Amino acid sequence: MTKPFNIVILISGTGSNALNLIEHFHNKTIFDKKVIIKKVISNNPSAKGLFKAQEKGVDTFVLNHKDFIKREDFDSVLASLVLKESPNLVLLAGFMRVLSEAFLSKLDIPILNIHPSYLPLHKGAHAIKDSFNDSNDFGGVSVHYVSKELDSGTILLQEKIKKACDIESFEKDIHTLEYKLYVEAVLKVLKGS
Ligand code: GAR
Repeated sequence: MTKPFNIVILISGTGSNALNLIEHFHNKTIFDKKVIIKKVISNNPSAKGLFKAQEKGVDTFVLNHKDFIKREDFDSVLASLVLKESPNLVLLAGFMRVLSEAFLSKLDIPILNIHPSYLPLHKGAHAIKDSFNDSNDFGGVSVHYVSKELDSGTILLQEKIKKACDIESFEKDIHTLEYKLYVEAVLKVLKGS
């Protein structure tokens, strides 16, 4: 009998990583586990990724951080919402908020984030532009466990990529690498769980 493996994805915007994860994993049986993307949750009511998830039949929910005065209160309600889905894994896919202890201490399961740079280089919200403008001939993508510091935590997988000549091509290459690497990272967790 296949065991269910529940995933919750957190997003803030476009949701192309979330869509890719849904296409690869939702309702699929992998390593004898029935993987279900239980919910896509966004802190941003206009996140385009919400509609992409709905089109694929995945439930969505908006928890607007602007409705909360204190970060900890938002994080605490977010943790309760996530826990309602009995998750085995939480995936941050372009979720542009730092999660405090009020979230992290309530979840005793792996929480992963994808970041578009070869960490620890270029943490923060402008990693692609910052990578492109540095003196290295490479950029990269990292998937790491989430800790309470921004874009930190133990790295699960990361890969470098040769820098393209213009930023548009570089950005496209980064996203292509992200889609590959996040799938590999989830497979790694599924295999080990
Ligand atoms: C992705 O490039 C992701 O790595 C980045 O936001 C983008 C979201 O795109 N995340 C961070 O920078 C986290 N610090 P998407 O919404 O199309 O998946």
